[in-house]
Order: sequence, then structure tokens, then C-alpha cells
Amino acid sequence: MKIKPASLDKKDLHELMVGAIVPRPIAFISTIGKDGIFNLAAFSFFNGLCLRPAIVAIGIGWRGLEKKDTLRNIEDSKDFVINMVTEPLAQAMNQSSADYPSEVDEFKEVGLTPVKADLVNAPLVAESPINMECKLVQTLEFGKMPTGSTVVIGEIVLVHVKDDLWAGDHIEISKFHAIGRLGQDLYCRTRDTFEMKRAVLT
Ligand SMILES: Cc1cc2nc3c(=O)[nH]c(=O)nc-3n(C[C@H](O)[C@H](O)[C@H](O)COP(=O)(O)O)c2cc1C
Repeated sequence: MKIKPASLDKKDLHELMVGAIVPRPIAFISTIGKDGIFNLAAFSFFNGLCLRPAIVAIGIGWRGLEKKDTLRNIEDSKDFVINMVTEPLAQAMNQSSADYPSEVDEFKEVGLTPVKADLVNAPLVAESPINMECKLVQTLEFGKMPTGSTVVIGEIVLVHVKDDLWAGDHIEISKFHAIGRLGQDLYCRTRDTFEMKRAVLT
């Protein structure tokens, strides 16, 4: 089977991409609107791209002819926080990603606690064990509304890590319990790991 992306409708192309590109990390993004209202939403078209500077990218699709609140808030305030999603946060993350109107504070709506960040205006999610304060570097637009996306490129300026997760030089993956996104309505846990040393030429 060979499939040209251009030959599929939006729904099938979405399933092809999200089913093939797995597992995906989830950026649970907190932002603040012009009106001071806090916003939360999940994005799995997300990854780290560069170490120094510490760059991340997130693909934010458009909601019909409108920008999603997260994108609008990032463009206005120039900052955001990525909160990593663990098993206990799964339900709240999913709930916050429903289409709430902009005037709804999604922290209140899903029962999470906003905490003031050190270097950005967006709040941290207290319940997440790893929060990354990010400043907007640039946006890139691909395609046209309503099917296109804006890729947000940000620099991580401060990382908050729960003390028991940071072993001095690495994250203790066995204590993290992060979840990942698959296709359809599926997620995965990160408990089933195996070790493989990096190959070296002898
Ligand atoms: C696990 C998960 C991953 C998601 N990934 C993306 C994504 O990568 N890009 C996107 O545009 N929407 C994604 N969504 C949908 C947004 O979270 C959803 O459109 C949300 O309502 C946007 O909220 P906002 O308007 O407050 O920004 C995802 C939803 C979930 C639950």
C-alpha cells in the first residue's frame, strides 16, 4: 500500500499521521489571555528540536477559520508553559482539551492548580512534575485555513523538575509515569521500557 497524503481527506490523513507517528509526547500547554484568563490544552504534534538554545516546536491546527486560544495567547503574550502529562493527569488533560470558550478558565474547569512562573506570564500546572517555561521564538504557517497549522517554535528558559525525578544527571523515567499519544483514542504508558546501549564502532 502506498498512500499520497494529498489523496486523503483531512480525517483520514489525520489518522494516518497520528497512527504512524507514535508514540508522541504530549505538551500540556498553559497560557494567559489578554484578559488575564488562564488557558490549558494538549498538543501532541510536539517535540524538542535543539539543545542549545533549548528549542521546542508544537503544531497547532486552526479551529475552522479561527485560531485556537493557545495559539492566540502565545502570539499575544509571547510566552507559554509546557507541563508534561503523567498518568494521574490524563483525565484533566483530556477534559481541558474540549472546545471551551476563551472566557472559561480551564484550570478551574478541570480542577488543576495554577502557580506563578518565574520568567514568563503563563502559569505552571502545580500537579505536573515537569514544567517548562518557554518564550516564543517564531511561528511558521503551513497550508491554508481551515486545514493548515501554525508551528510554534519556543525556547525553554526554565525547567521545573520535581526533586525525586531528577537523579542529578538524568530524569528517573521509572518514577515519571509520563503518558504518550497514539492514534485513534489510544494512549500509552512509559512503564514498559528496555535498555540498549548506544552502538559504538570498534
Ligand atoms: C492528547 C491530545 C493531543 C492533541 N494534540 C493536538 C495537536 O498536536 N495540535 C492541535 O492543534 N490540537 C491538538 N489537540 C486538540 C486540542 O487540545 C484542542 O483543539 C483544544 O481544544 C485546543 O484548546 P484551546 O482553544 O484552548 O487552545 C490535542 C488534544 C488531545 C487530547
